[in-house]
Amino acid sequence: MVKIAPSLLAADYLHLSDALEVVNSSADLFHMDIMDGVFVPNISIGFPIVEAVAGAAEKPLDVHLMIVNPQNYASRFAAIKGVGMVSFHLEACPDPGELLCSLRRANVKAGLAINPDRNVEELFPYLEHCDFILLMSVFAGFGGQKFIEGTYDRIRALKKEISKRCLNVEIEVDGGVSPLNSKALADSGADILVAGTAVFRAEHPAEVIASMR
Ligand code: DX5
Ligand code: ZN
Repeated sequence: MVKIAPSLLAADYLHLSDALEVVNSSADLFHMDIMDGVFVPNISIGFPIVEAVAGAAEKPLDVHLMIVNPQNYASRFAAIKGVGMVSFHLEACPDPGELLCSLRRANVKAGLAINPDRNVEELFPYLEHCDFILLMSVFAGFGGQKFIEGTYDRIRALKKEISKRCLNVEIEVDGGVSPLNSKALADSGADILVAGTAVFRAEHPAEVIASMR
């Protein structure tokens, strides 16, 4: 069954405990978007919030680094108790293979992320070192963007390569995901769906999560 990872980017930060309750009771992972204002034209949250959420989370945290030189900070995120997955962008890292291996050594799942304008084939040399791929279905940087339809073909191409090589790599899709496209995404081969706006801007977040499953 597809896993649901609500993105806290769209949560109400004055009432973060409400978001925590939703994820703890209804979802599978806490997706945490870290933006540095350099790799993407936006700044989001950092260590204090990730640590606070981790301290109250009953589900693993899935940390998505949208920062340049992720090798400088990834191990610090990986060391936070409760963080289960860390991904960084292929475009942002001088030696992705080395960072993926060091994340695995830190006992978290290692993920490589790419924006929609990069070919999925660019990921292929690193697949052996990945536990998951984070396929962006919008350009990284902002919540609330429109889902890019070309994502389905990208999931299928990636899935085909993973199957051909008999690898155990999950595919996570991030951006513009909602109950309108969740079934088609899962049918195309997505294993984890990230959704921010669709979940936290809804009146009944738990129902949205249930319908995405
Ligand atoms: C965008 C982030 C996403 C974002 C998704 O750069 O990586 O995780 O929060 O938000 P929605 O679901 O609103 O597109
Ligand atoms: Zn994200």
